[in-house]
Amino acid sequence: MPFPLQRPRRLRQSPAMRRLVAETRLHPSELILPAFIKEGADEPLPIASMPGVVQHTTDSLKAAAAEAAELGLGGIMLFGVPETRDATGSAGLDPQGVLNRAIADVKAEVGDGLLVMSDLCLDEFTDHGHCGVLREDGAVDNDATLEIYGQMAVAQAEAGADVLGPSGMMDGQVRVIREALDAAGHTDAVIFAYAAKYSSAFYGPFRDAVDSQLTGDRKTYQMDAANRTEALREVCLDLEEGADMVMVKPAMAYLDIVRDVAETADVPVSAYQISGEYAMIEAAAAQGWIDRRAAIAESVLSIRRAGAGSVLTYYAAELGRWIKEGS
Ligand code: PBG
Repeated sequence: MPFPLQRPRRLRQSPAMRRLVAETRLHPSELILPAFIKEGADEPLPIASMPGVVQHTTDSLKAAAAEAAELGLGGIMLFGVPETRDATGSAGLDPQGVLNRAIADVKAEVGDGLLVMSDLCLDEFTDHGHCGVLREDGAVDNDATLEIYGQMAVAQAEAGADVLGPSGMMDGQVRVIREALDAAGHTDAVIFAYAAKYSSAFYGPFRDAVDSQLTGDRKTYQMDAANRTEALREVCLDLEEGADMVMVKPAMAYLDIVRDVAETADVPVSAYQISGEYAMIEAAAAQGWIDRRAAIAESVLSIRRAGAGSVLTYYAAELGRWIKEGS
């Protein structure tokens, strides 16, 4: 008998062979582009900790959305950076607020050519930076926040959002949002729940991106990195409450959770390659320590391979272009 009998390397011998046997592929329709709009900006403003990502003006955001549509991306997820903030985040409810206007502007630009998604959370709009309103003792008031989320959901749906992404991790948020949407006649608005969202050091650059006012942390509402079973509980609750799709976030430090959720949930599962994941790749690539393009492709592929059907990534447009060019 010749040895070795089994030669797995046979199927790795050429690009054509590897292409044939690849188990996971990337497609633009599975990539969702997160994008920031800054109220009052005259020109796109670079974000220091996220080289290549900007706080958009209305015009540059519309152009980015048009390109996303052209590339056939899965959607654009909008985040607003307001000029003024208050204790209850009221600019998030205002139809003329930066995020609601951006939703309407982008929808007018792309029509049915791209899904318009919006972050449904108060943290960008509150002067204390928390995802909900505060009680007198400074703790985040879950139930008072829910009421505001319900109103915010209706405002975003009226502005034209196809998909709403509640990301505040308040208990009961999906149910309250579904009820508010349905009562306002928005039965078609999709709820894309940030179901398993962990309290993470890797959100750091995002907080620059939205000029976050937060001091302290979100550990009383976002999940503890130590926990796995709890993610499944969060997902089950969101599904019972009416979530149409669920998300795990962050992605790369939580690929085990992505796999668990993909095996458990009977709805589409997504994962968010967050700002810190982006920043790490950019920083290492800028030093010449990793091959930027290969690292980007491998990182997003790993998230798909873990079981996410779609990926929110700041690389969505760039990756979409590479895929389209066949490179
Ligand atoms: C909350 C929200 C956050 C992100 C998306 N939605 C930040 C947070 O929880 O502090 C993070 C996204 C990223 O880091 O890229 N509205």
